[in-house]
Amino acid sequence: MAVQVGDPQHETPEGRLDLETLELQLLLEGVYRQYGYDFREYAVASLRRRVWRRVHAEGVETIAGLLERLLHDPSVMERLLLDLSINVTSMFRDPTFYGAFREKVVPLLRTYPFTRIWVAGCSTGEEVYSLAIMLTEEGVYERSRIYATDINEAVLARAREGVFPLDRMQEYTDNYIRAGGKHSFSEYYLAKYEGALFERTLTENVVWAPHNLVQDRLFNTFNVILCRNVMIYFDRPLQNRVHQLFHDSLERFGILALGHKESIRFTGFEDSYEELDAYEKLYRRIR
Ligand SMILES: C[S@@+](CC[C@H](N)C(=O)[O-])C[C@H]1O[C@@H](n2cnc3c(N)ncnc32)[C@H](O)[C@@H]1O
Repeated sequence: MAVQVGDPQHETPEGRLDLETLELQLLLEGVYRQYGYDFREYAVASLRRRVWRRVHAEGVETIAGLLERLLHDPSVMERLLLDLSINVTSMFRDPTFYGAFREKVVPLLRTYPFTRIWVAGCSTGEEVYSLAIMLTEEGVYERSRIYATDINEAVLARAREGVFPLDRMQEYTDNYIRAGGKHSFSEYYLAKYEGALFERTLTENVVWAPHNLVQDRLFNTFNVILCRNVMIYFDRPLQNRVHQLFHDSLERFGILALGHKESIRFTGFEDSYEELDAYEKLYRRIR
């Protein structure tokens, strides 16, 4: 966490960190030292909210109380990890993004004999299945490999299963149509009990793997990197470091896709990319 003594927002009149900020720092330090997860440079406001939610859910009074619990009980850490990693996602999220991808990126992919795509922070996989459906419809899935990674192994396990709540299928069908889907969305899944089991062929070319954007390194080079709605939770220096990792991992003329609320501006990499679509946050590496 980037809050330091000297930051007036988090200081007492005597010039010390206020107690809550101090406890939060100790918690993040404990999480890092005991479990190896480094949340110290995540954006403070959202961290604080989520930590307090866990404090209340565990029935303790303070953040320090939560630290005590989690140091001695790994299951508390598992639950906190779920809170901190914020796994909200959906199929064909921001449908217009997929429309722009079809129109502006797929034609480039057709010129490659083979495409490596990295979906960083894939959560429970809805984005990956959406991408696989779109690439299949555009006839380029066969020659693609998708590396889908996340910090959180529990969400990756769910992604691998490919079963999504039936009660979201109407919303996903609407998204799919707005994203320019070419078939009937229900062709892609089998409704079973409470779940929609998606076509196994959609994940034939997907490699699911844990990867931590804060601590892990470059593991391949890619033609396309999607990292949407992940860096919004990082503070600025951490975002910039992750942009360095993406820049190093992207082939020249490779594509970077960010979330609607994210941007390449002020990262130090503005000049390395040209904008393919400013609204949809699609960039192409030019240097
Ligand atoms: C809000 S979800 C976004 C999912 C999907 N990309 C989308 O746009 O719908 C953010 C995901 O980023 C993952 N994440 C958070 N910190 C991460 C890190 N340091 N390295 C890799 N993934 C991380 C979380 O576990 C979560 O699954």
